Amino acid sequence: MSPGLFPRSEDGIRPAASDALSISVDGKTVDGLAGQTIAGVLLGSGRLAWRKTSSDGSPRGVFCGIGVCFDCIVEVNGIRDVRACQRRARDGDQVISQHDPLPEVTE
Ligand code: FES
Repeated sequence: MSPGLFPRSEDGIRPAASDALSISVDGKTVDGLAGQTIAGVLLGSGRLAWRKTSSDGSPRGVFCGIGVCFDCIVEVNGIRDVRACQRRARDGDQVISQHDPLPEVTE
């Protein structure tokens, strides 16, 4: 056995078990762990995209993951434009994916 390999039970730096949480995403329940961001919960559930661009409806999810690009925005508990990669999920959060069509141009 390599010196770097040892049983998980003997790993002194393994993280403690996290509490489970559930959020609602577009009406569907998604399970996650305490400490995860909303994006982390969504990615963990296998969902890679949850927003569509205004111009052509292209799918978007996490791009930068550090709060810079705003590709991951969602509505959380009635508050729009929340960056999913920056907002920690809380048990019972109501998340709604966003799609804002471009405004009509009138002259
Ligand atoms: S992924 Fe870029 S702001 Fe969230």
